[in-house]
Amino acid sequence: MCGIIGYCGKDDAGTTILRGLKALEYRGYDSSGIALANPNGSLSITRSVGKISALIEKTKLNLIASSSGIGHTRWATHGAVNEANTHPHTDQLGKVAVVHNGIIENFETLKKNFSPEIFSSETDTEVIAHMIALEMDSGQNLLQAVQNTLHKATGSFSIVVVSELNPHKIVAARKGNASGLVVGFAKDAICVVSDITALTDIIEHITFLDANEYVEFSSKEAIFYSDTGEEIDKKELQLPFEHSVQNLGQFKHYMLKEINEQPEAILDTIRGRYQSDTGSIYLQELQISSEQICDINRVVFVGMGTSSNATLVGRHYMERFAKIPSEVDNASEFRYRQPILDKNTLVISVAQSGETVDTLAAMDEAKRAGCMQITICNNPGTQTTRIADSSIYMRCGQEISVASTKTMTASMVLMHALALYLGKIRGTLSSETEQQQINAALHLPVALGQALELSNQIEEIASRYHTFDDFLFLGRGLGFPIAIEGALKLKEISYINAIGYAAGEMKHGPIALIDSQMPTIAIAPRDTVFEKMVSNIQQIRARQGKVIALVSHGEKSLNNLADEIIELPEVDPLLSPIVTVVPLQLLAYHIAQKRGLDIDQPRNLAKTVTVE
Ligand code: F6R
Repeated sequence: MCGIIGYCGKDDAGTTILRGLKALEYRGYDSSGIALANPNGSLSITRSVGKISALIEKTKLNLIASSSGIGHTRWATHGAVNEANTHPHTDQLGKVAVVHNGIIENFETLKKNFSPEIFSSETDTEVIAHMIALEMDSGQNLLQAVQNTLHKATGSFSIVVVSELNPHKIVAARKGNASGLVVGFAKDAICVVSDITALTDIIEHITFLDANEYVEFSSKEAIFYSDTGEEIDKKELQLPFEHSVQNLGQFKHYMLKEINEQPEAILDTIRGRYQSDTGSIYLQELQISSEQICDINRVVFVGMGTSSNATLVGRHYMERFAKIPSEVDNASEFRYRQPILDKNTLVISVAQSGETVDTLAAMDEAKRAGCMQITICNNPGTQTTRIADSSIYMRCGQEISVASTKTMTASMVLMHALALYLGKIRGTLSSETEQQQINAALHLPVALGQALELSNQIEEIASRYHTFDDFLFLGRGLGFPIAIEGALKLKEISYINAIGYAAGEMKHGPIALIDSQMPTIAIAPRDTVFEKMVSNIQQIRARQGKVIALVSHGEKSLNNLADEIIELPEVDPLLSPIVTVVPLQLLAYHIAQKRGLDIDQPRNLAKTVTVE
């Protein structure tokens, strides 16, 4: 979480940092702040509670002319959301300013070395500013002061520091594996940002700060250091994607824009990968040999949140087409239960951001065990892609809304492609099935377009249901992951209590909740478990529960049973989750909209979760 930035250059540092913070806002938007170095040395600090727009408004009148500074957008971990806890944090005299992302685990212990009254915030960050200032008072330069301080701190975090003693230089450091930092080289400037998505309009080359590395930079030069203080060489890399302009176009929210982008996004995802004329799947990015593929004895999928829900669909595909025993693990639990892994285990991680701390930790665990690793990611060059042996990119374009939509559909498509690809090499997939699935997948952009046409109907349903406070989502088979995802979308942007269950579980507890005040969303396409879903719906109706049913195109048998019927577009039954999720995204969107909520930046959430 937390977006951090440091900049030294010719351009006006204040405006550039504010622009960078705006691009990093999806990492947290509780409060934000900026510290600019005056040419005479002193630091000018502005902090503001709320979104970056509030900071921009506040700095309008007093943004000093400066060529270097640091900035921060906060997702609160230690201390309430208020101005005192907003970064940058400083020492008592304001000589040193620090922005920080991650957690300093021993901050309480470190604070004991200072008298309590010097602290003006409840954060874990502030003590670092006092420690650096103390080191500098004893004659250390900024780099040495940061190094000595970080040697005493524990945890996994990144910091960026500016000091009035040398206002034209900035020091940034990364402690441990989480909280990545990217150093960007622009024409007349050097900057450091939490991830590549900030300042892509000026950055020409990048390099990544690895764990326990430091960089000291001015507008002209960046020098990298190891934890022990030796200079290290870093390779400069091309920016792995073109700068894309973020704008809402005709849409009111990024979430709605991104939902609507799905037909085109999926066209980009499948382009060149599914080929009907040759009846083959092409995944050139896979760095795993046919022998290794044949040796795989187990697949473990890891991810968090929506990405984890998508892996439940991936597991179906892997077992069905590649016939490899597969399991799904919540990445945050994976490493704590000492999973049994070996070199023939294929670990497939899904993380649209490529920076999710729990997914990174699971991947590190898999790496230690020598597993083969494939990651499915939307952001080139991010941390997951640097750990995995192979990265398969979603090619969706940046997802800005906190609620993931298009990247979930893309990740399900890629797990489908991957399962077909592995199945062919392992000889578990007939060419007829492969051809049929390729043709079915190539129809997805059309089906997704048809799903979007349901928006008006869903908006009407939302107007009848947006005042309910509890919802149950039920699905079976491939409908189950979509039930959990539908519930997740609704709760995160509408703050409605929504739970997703395997429909078979209903009688084992959740049915006790059913009454006229708890509507059920039943995912009931005509597949092998359709009749069972019908009996779930009957049991709900018998208890006065309202039912919104998602059914196959042309299905009329539930017309007298469900309160609302949403007819899904025609799609191959195995690909139905990829299309069925769209009406549920729209339902969450329209309900949140009718409740008047901040859809793109829901309370308490951040798009990239970089702390445990
Ligand atoms: C929900 C949502 C989150 C993310 C989760 C994992 O809409 O966006 O649940 O899916 O934080 O993020 P990534 O995919 O970046 O690892």
